Order: sequence, then C-alpha cells, then structure tokens
Amino acid sequence: MKYLQHTIITLLLAVVSTIGAGAQDEVPMHFTCLPYLQNVTEDEATIIWATDRDAVSWVEVAPDDDTHFYATERPKHFSTTLGKKDIGTMHRITVKGLEPNTVYRYRVYSKEVTKNADMDTRYGRTIANDVYRGRPFRFRTMNPGEKALHFAVVNDIHEDAPRYSRLFQQVDSASLDFMVLNGDMVNNMNTIEQPFNGFLNTSSRLFATSIPFYMVRGNHETRGTQSQRYMDLYSTPTGKPYYALRRGDVCFVVLDAGEDKPDSDIEYNDLAAFDQYRTEEAEWLAETVKSDIFASAPLRIVLIHVPPGGRDWHGQIEVNDKFMPILNTAGVDLTISGHLHEHQFHPKGSAGFNFPLLINSNMDILDIKAGDGAIDVKIIDDSGRMKKELHFTPDR
Ligand SMILES: [Fe+2]
Repeated sequence: MKYLQHTIITLLLAVVSTIGAGAQDEVPMHFTCLPYLQNVTEDEATIIWATDRDAVSWVEVAPDDDTHFYATERPKHFSTTLGKKDIGTMHRITVKGLEPNTVYRYRVYSKEVTKNADMDTRYGRTIANDVYRGRPFRFRTMNPGEKALHFAVVNDIHEDAPRYSRLFQQVDSASLDFMVLNGDMVNNMNTIEQPFNGFLNTSSRLFATSIPFYMVRGNHETRGTQSQRYMDLYSTPTGKPYYALRRGDVCFVVLDAGEDKPDSDIEYNDLAAFDQYRTEEAEWLAETVKSDIFASAPLRIVLIHVPPGGRDWHGQIEVNDKFMPILNTAGVDLTISGHLHEHQFHPKGSAGFNFPLLINSNMDILDIKAGDGAIDVKIIDDSGRMKKELHFTPDR
C-alpha cells in the first residue's frame, strides 16, 4: 500500500468532469467525502463516498498496468438495490470477482439526479475523480500468503479531525496494511454528517482511498437519531458491528460493547436494548472462537472499545459477564481497548484476564507489527514521541 503520494496528488486534482448540464446549479454538485475502502478481501472491495446532492453512482475499475485509464472503456460497477440504481447522497459499491494480491486502479462517478418523478427522471452533472492530470485511486486485494502485518490503532477521537490527522502522521503510512478505528470516533450520530466531518473525510484525505480501515463501534457511535444507520457507513464480514477476520498470521475478533449504562437509563429515551444485543453477540463469539479462522491462527487479537475489568458501569459488567468467560478460555494473545482516555496496561493474569489488556489513550496512536509469532506495539503521541514499546508472544 504505497500510494499515499499519488492519493494526495489525486485528491488535490480530484473533481470535476462535466458530462451533463445541470439546470438549477450555479455551484455544481461536489464530493463531500472522497472514497474510503472497506472490507477489502482476496476477491472483493467495498468503496464508499458521499456527495452533497442526490446522484446515481458507479465505479470503474482497471488493472494496474501500463495502459492509460482512458485507453478503453472500463467496467462499470453500479450502486444498486433489487436490480435498480440507487439514488442518494451516500454511495456504496462492492466490486467483486477480483484477483488476490493484485493492485487495481479505480475511478468513482456520481451523476446528479435533479428530478425523480414517475416516468420522469432528470439528470444534472456527472463528477468523477480526475484520472487525466491526477492518478487514479489504487488498492491492493488481500494477499492470502501474507505473514507480517503493519497496522495502527486510534480511538476516542470524538470528531477531533486535526488530532486524528496529527496522530496518523506519526506512523510510516507507506507500509501500512490497514488502520483500526477503535471506537468513539464521533460524539454521537445525530446527523449523518458528523462521522463524515468528524473523521471519514480525514480518513479519505489521509489514506482510505488506498488503505482500508476496520471500524470498532464505541458507545458514542450508538448514540443519536442517526445511530441506526451505522452499518450504512461500514462494511464488515458479518454485516454487523462485530466480526472476525484473518489477516496474515493474525485472527482479529472485533467486538461491540454497546452502551455503557443500563438500557433503562434516562439518556436512552427508552430505545436501548443492549443487554439482548450483547447476549446474541456472545452466542456468535462462542462459535467464532471455535471456528477455523480463529483456531488455526498463530496470533489472536481482540479489539473492543470498552475495556473489560471495571465493575462500576453496566456496560463493563456486561462485557465481563458475557464475553470474558469465552475469551478467557479461547487463547487470546492481546486485547486492545480505549474508552478511558488514558493509557493502561494489564499483563496477562493481572486483572483476572487470561490475556494482556492494552488500553490506548485518546492522545496516542498504536503502531503495531504482527507476524512470525510476535506482536510488537509502539505507543506514540501526536508529536511523534514514542512513549512505550510492548512485545507479546503467544503464551497459551
Ligand atoms: Fe467510550
């Protein structure tokens, strides 16, 4: 994943190819969020972006060869539902049938819909990222033979995009395989613009056109009138906020701790049902730790926003009671959490867990290399100062 320079150049040049004429607009439709990659596997990738007006959208994909993007008509992949093209301001397309460990170029298009009435659909301008003066976006599909991984983790950004950007800049992004956003990236989800303005735009600007990220749901992502649209923004192997995946030697188990107070709390307006949700998740977790992707993995890392251990708040008590009995006997090599806005490290066995627990501060980024039977973590602040190094090897 070494396309950041190209990405930045392309972002600067991105926009606009005018194909149609909009009737209404002095100011043309524009991208409010450039594409970000989700759930890139050996044979598919999901690409998500946003515009300020309703549009139909598609993505063109080309091999990373020496042909110009304009050399030929490139295959078009449309955003569709039940056989019809979607109209909206959020655009989400899964490109399938890709080859493993292969670099692809891509270009996203949105065509403004100015009117959508019965038998009368009208269109405005079409916009796309520039592939003439700029470089197309690129991504690499997962390599089934990959061993060593390089990834980084941030959490509790709470819509502070400048801090997120400073933290990201402290890692060597040229060798990053992916990012992990470990929850509470927003303050709440009262508008769908909050995640875009709070961190998604920044993700696309910094890396996510070419490097995917894995999202972990924090308790603040569960809040707000738009919080049930959470899965519109992300793609996961299960289609749910909790999931497991294998990358290189590592099986990652991503858990959703839900809200931190009892479901009946006045803050939730009688809309929370997280006890039942966590029970269902625990049933999934019990099956997952028996699955081949977990059992056969040389290294196993759990990502969960709310750390286990405390007995003060209901969410933590639920995590302790429902998830920990499963994880404590599963053979977990490292659990990474956030939520507390301070660094804590609990060695294996020290706090009642059968694995080491690393809680990351909201002011630091974890720069992690995993493979060859070891996990190496550097804890770095937003000025680039390395505060601590940790080394883990399986001890099951
Ligand atoms: Fe939190």
